[in-house]
Formats: sequence, structure tokens, C-alpha cells
Amino acid sequence: MRQSSLVVVAMRLPIDDSVAPDGACEWRRSPGGLVSALHPLLRQTPATWVGWAGGSGPAPSLPDVDGVRMHTVPLTLDDLRDHYEGFANATLWPLYHDAVEQPEHHRRWWEAYQRVNQRYAEATAAVAEPGAIVWVQDYHLQLVPGLLRALRPDLRIGFFLHVPFPPPELFMQLPRRAELLRGMLGADLVGFQRAQAAHNFAQLTTKVLGVSATDRRIAVDDRVVRIGAFPVSIDTAEMSALAGSPEVAERAQRFRRDLGDPAHVILSVDRMDYTKGIEQRLTAYSELLASGHVKVRDTVLVQVAVPSRERVGQYQVLRDRVEREVGRINGEFGRVGEPAIHYLTQPFDRAELAALYRVADVMAVTPLRDGMNLVAKEYVAARVDDSGALLLSEFAGSATELSQAYLVNPHDLEGLKQGLLSALEADPADVTTRMRAMRAHLHRYDIRAWARSYLSALDESGSLLHRLG
Ligand code: UDP
Ligand code: G6P
Repeated sequence: MRQSSLVVVAMRLPIDDSVAPDGACEWRRSPGGLVSALHPLLRQTPATWVGWAGGSGPAPSLPDVDGVRMHTVPLTLDDLRDHYEGFANATLWPLYHDAVEQPEHHRRWWEAYQRVNQRYAEATAAVAEPGAIVWVQDYHLQLVPGLLRALRPDLRIGFFLHVPFPPPELFMQLPRRAELLRGMLGADLVGFQRAQAAHNFAQLTTKVLGVSATDRRIAVDDRVVRIGAFPVSIDTAEMSALAGSPEVAERAQRFRRDLGDPAHVILSVDRMDYTKGIEQRLTAYSELLASGHVKVRDTVLVQVAVPSRERVGQYQVLRDRVEREVGRINGEFGRVGEPAIHYLTQPFDRAELAALYRVADVMAVTPLRDGMNLVAKEYVAARVDDSGALLLSEFAGSATELSQAYLVNPHDLEGLKQGLLSALEADPADVTTRMRAMRAHLHRYDIRAWARSYLSALDESGSLLHRLG
């Protein structure tokens, strides 16, 4: 087995096994912000990525992707049902997102979570060079740092949580809270998106495990575990260059024409997830149409809602409700050839997304809770002419950095409506000032700056950073 000095471990590989319309099997980029963030980074250094390739059954053998070795962890249908759809996405995901949907607890799910985490730890132990750096990602794999340390004490282990880490009163609901915390403490460095999350974690380790903790360091046995906030970012230069290319500019013009050349285009791009606030946004838009503040003749809403976790009940219910509401709004307010909402569920590739971002006069990113939200950052990076109003939820991690956005509380329907109107009617000079400030921030703090800040905290010898350049 070939071994690497840098190993990334994530539930998913960056490519996903999907079935093409003609029934053939094809590989395409995996969904979500985690892959968007890490994929461009690893192209620069020899690394192995340990993860699941989509589907169930024996692990397919995959070619390298952009020079990164793919090491597949096979998962059975039972593993997927009880670990991925169960403990990860029906217990932890809702709990970590303010319990906006009710988390479920089942003992069988916990057993699967342990079993699958053990399998990832063993797969990682097999591909890590002596003394390698291992970077474990996200809530699916919270036990891996501890399990891996037991197998391979020589490794330098980092853990990064892409989603929010909840306040003690929510986390304390978890029947197996102590084990989850101990698993994370197997790492040398535990990273979060926001300082508040690191604070919650420190408080919880003291409360549940009785260890001595500050917001920066936790003493465990004979080790010190460092903790901190490392807000994830995007490849700003790449998105700006793509959005500024003549092909994307031309595609954006065609999109605008196809939309009927309206005075205002509002865009939202989400996975179909109840944390994203899609229903609240649709209600706000519908009420603005009903009151006549927004007219179909001059404003269109483009809602991209890519289906996600489709076997989890809460996601099925959400999709049904969203589709019924889009149908109602289009029936009530649309005209022949002029729907009120252009509703799209096909995933868009990077170039098409960049073109959509360029078309959008207003980008509405209004999750009820989000670890970061990279779509907001990508929109800013794509606005190469400094125009465009970003309407952003206070409850997205990105609001900490993009404080010049038009900030809203998505739980406040009147506030959401007012925010949409303010963004639509904003003075262009104000829009430009805000956009320039956000773009400057993202050019300074891009995905490489994120990786550098995390890895320099993890890799005290600095050898990996040297290779990343
Ligand atoms: N995305 C994409 N095609 C789509 C919709 C989304 O490539 O049709 C990407 C988007 O560009 C972003 C990621 O999916 O990089 C979503 O990340 P985000 O942090 O916004 O949310 P998540 O889905 O991770 O909760
Ligand atoms: C979020 C999570 C990621 C996950 C992504 C897509 O960004 O933090 O870990 O990969 O959503 O979700 P999925 O369930 O399709 O992997």
C-alpha cells in the first residue's frame, strides 16, 4: 500500500459515483462546501484522500484526481442508513443547526457511527506515512481522531468541523456526548468555523469530562489539545478569473436574455436543506409579490435547490413543501412566459454557477443556521465589477467576515422582506462600497490563507506548509 505524508479524511471523496441519464455510471464532483474548499487546495501537494465514493458495496478502485490519491472506504447499505442518513444527518446535523428540525436518537445509529468511524480510522492508519499529518473533516467522523491515535500514536492529527458546534444546552441532549467529545480530543488541533464554537467546545469538555479548558487549549491526560476558529474560505482568485472570462460573461448575458431581461434578478443557490431557510425566503417573496412591492414584470427570483440526502425523511418532506409552494407562487403570480420563480434542481457546474452569480443583482443567502456558506463568498468573488448586493443571514458563519453585506434575521419575516427590498433598491454607490470591502477581504483571506493558518497551527515543524507554498 502506497503511503502519504498528508492524508485528508472526509466522509465523501471529492468525486461521487452517479448514474447518468442513459444509465451509465459516471464520476462527478461531490456536493457541498467541504469538497469545494479542500479540492483546490490539495492539487498543490501530494496527498491521499480517504473517503466514500458514493453507492454501496465493494470499494471501486479510483484513478488519482488532480494528483490526489483516492482511497475508498467501502460502506454497506446498513452503514449508509444508520451512519450517514441516521446518526450523522438525522441526529447530529439537526442538533448542530440549532435543532431547527427535531434530532432523532436511536441506539442502532450510534453503533453504526462507531463502526464506520473505526473503519475510517483503520483505512487512514494504513495509508499514512510514519509521522504523517492527518486532517480529519466534519461531523460524520468525530470519533476518528481518538480511534486513530490509538492505532497510530506517531501521527499529527487535526480535526476540523465545517458545521456549527452547538451551545451546551443542545449538545447535552446527546446520549453519547462524552464519547463524541473524547473522540475529537484525540486530535492535536480541533478547528471550528467561529470563535463561539470553540468556546462552546471548551465549556462542554469541562462540564462533561471535567478537564481543564480555555478557548485555546485543553489539557487531556498528558497532552495539550489546541482549539481555535479557522473560518473556511474559497479560491477567490480562481472564481474571479472564471467569472471574468469572456465565456462566462457571454453565458451570463444569455442567462439574462433567457430570463426575459428583467430589471432585477434575485438568485439563491442552496442544497435542498431545511437549514437553508428556503421556505422562509419563499414566504417573504410571495408576500412582496402579493403586496405589489415586487412585480413579476421587472423582477425574477432564480432558486437553485439541489436535492440532498434524499433518503432522510425530513429532506423528503422539505422538498415536497418547497415544490408545492413554488407551484402555488408561480400559479398565483406568474404570467404566460413569465414565471415568478425560476426553480431549478439540476446541479450547476462551476462555470455555469459563475455566470449565474454574474447575472444576479441581488444574491439572497438566508440560512437559519450555516457553519459558513461558501455560496455567499463565491458570489462576492464573482462580482468582478464590484456591483451586486449580498443579502446575508446573520446566522451564516460567513456573516462574521462579510459584515458589509445586507444582514438579515431570516426568522423575522418582516425583516426578511425589508432586507430584500433594501437590497433591490440600494443606492449603487453603497452597493459598490460594500462589495469592494468584501472582495478585498476575500482576496486577503482565501482558501490558501485558511489552510496556512490551520496547518501552521497543526504542523509545528512547518514542513508541510513549505510544500504548500
Ligand atoms: N454548488 C455547486 N453546484 C450547484 C450548487 C452548489 O457546485 O448547483 C456548490 C457551491 O458552489 C458551493 C457548495 O456547493 O461551493 C455549497 O457550499 P455551501 O458552503 O454554500 O453549503 P453546503 O452545501 O456545504 O451546506
Ligand atoms: C455540508 C457538510 C459536508 C457535506 C456537504 C454535502 O457542507 O459540512 O460535510 O459533504 O454538506 O452534504 P452530503 O450529505 O451530500 O455530503
